[in-house]
Amino acid sequence: MSLPSSPRVVQIGLAGLGNVGAGVYKNLDRNRALITQRTGADIQVKKIAVRDISRPRDIDVPAERLTTDWRDLIADPDIQVIVELIGGTTQAHELVCAALRAKKIVVTGNKALLAERGQELFALAEECGVPIYFEAAVAGGIPIIQVLQEGLVSNHIVSIHGIINGTCNYILTRMSQAGLSYQDALQEAQDKGFAEADPTLDISGWDAAHKAIILASLSYGFWIPQNLVHVEGVQKVTLTDFAFAKRLGYTIKLLSVIRADADGQVEVRTQPTLVPLSHVLASVSGSFNAVLVNGDTVGETLFYGRGAGQDPTSSSVISDLCEAAAVLIYGPRHSGFVPHGLYGKSKPIEDTVSRYYLRLTVDDRPGVVAQVAQVLGARTIGISSMIQPEDDLEAPSATTSLVLMLHDAPLGAVLQAIQEIAALPCIKEPPAWMRVETLLS
Ligand code: HSE
Repeated sequence: MSLPSSPRVVQIGLAGLGNVGAGVYKNLDRNRALITQRTGADIQVKKIAVRDISRPRDIDVPAERLTTDWRDLIADPDIQVIVELIGGTTQAHELVCAALRAKKIVVTGNKALLAERGQELFALAEECGVPIYFEAAVAGGIPIIQVLQEGLVSNHIVSIHGIINGTCNYILTRMSQAGLSYQDALQEAQDKGFAEADPTLDISGWDAAHKAIILASLSYGFWIPQNLVHVEGVQKVTLTDFAFAKRLGYTIKLLSVIRADADGQVEVRTQPTLVPLSHVLASVSGSFNAVLVNGDTVGETLFYGRGAGQDPTSSSVISDLCEAAAVLIYGPRHSGFVPHGLYGKSKPIEDTVSRYYLRLTVDDRPGVVAQVAQVLGARTIGISSMIQPEDDLEAPSATTSLVLMLHDAPLGAVLQAIQEIAALPCIKEPPAWMRVETLLS
């Protein structure tokens, strides 16, 4: 197969000219010669839909290319590819459906839209015979979608462990390394522009969960229902937890875990998790992302890079544009998501098994440890280690911390035990608990 003798012009419409949209415009132009040499396509931005035409911008865009109505992009017969970068799930859904119906290839970085409505959108893409590409939806500049769809196509995915929210990773890194409070670390992350427009999506864990749903759906060939994923945010993590975790040889990361068990049941969860300090994921700092994929043929593979930001994210969008151009020049391959019937069930989160960290604030008096151990023992949850800090002789207190590391147990049993422990009169504050991932393959 050879490239076309003269570059084929591919006209695209950009919906959204925020941070990422501007990056796409800028970097398409900056590397135009290279992109054309490699793909045989000259990708040109014909129209751009923006909210406010008069808004000052860092990039120079001819005014005649701007419109305030994304429908102008759909209606333009020269435009063959629509890039959706407006975010949200209402207008974006309308736009993507309209583009597909108009037989235009869709490129989107909208993880919330795909996580919520992926099944429906890929069915429509199939029906309309045009693909949806979404490399920028997960882990910014890391080409993890292509890895799962192509590089590891022959593998059953055993597991994926991902640090896939840069804002949360930044917050947790600053708490751990600089001793910043959660609030101060969040403020810094927002000032640096990592956070979503609404940071609750980041800190609640849902931004990472949306990405995990996409990775899991690609890995296991069926669209994972949102209501069957388990999500916890980083608000629950305290500096006290970091101190105990460190003492035990761990740090805390917002970790997304995707795994299929021997019966093909798939678990998808995103939670603050204790990760061994000796594991490479513990060293993924600041706003960086990392995705550890374990395939049955390849073994462990690790992908690391910037999960947010104008240039890294636009690198992924442009890679999708090149794929779209290839489809237009050489013919289609698939709709962007290929379902298959080898898996098909989400594992109830209560049945997922893990080690746990449990921190209790208790009355400092005899018999308390026995009461806690009694509740855990009754549910056959074993204790693998325990810390009770020595009394501070200068400031004696009637309460103390009791930190327990629990052996593997189902989440359902652990939650019931924690509820029972919380109700003991010797417990003085709501228990703090987190999963522990040993990451032993
Ligand atoms: N707000 C996201 C993050 C970036 O912090 O990772 C885009 O997904």
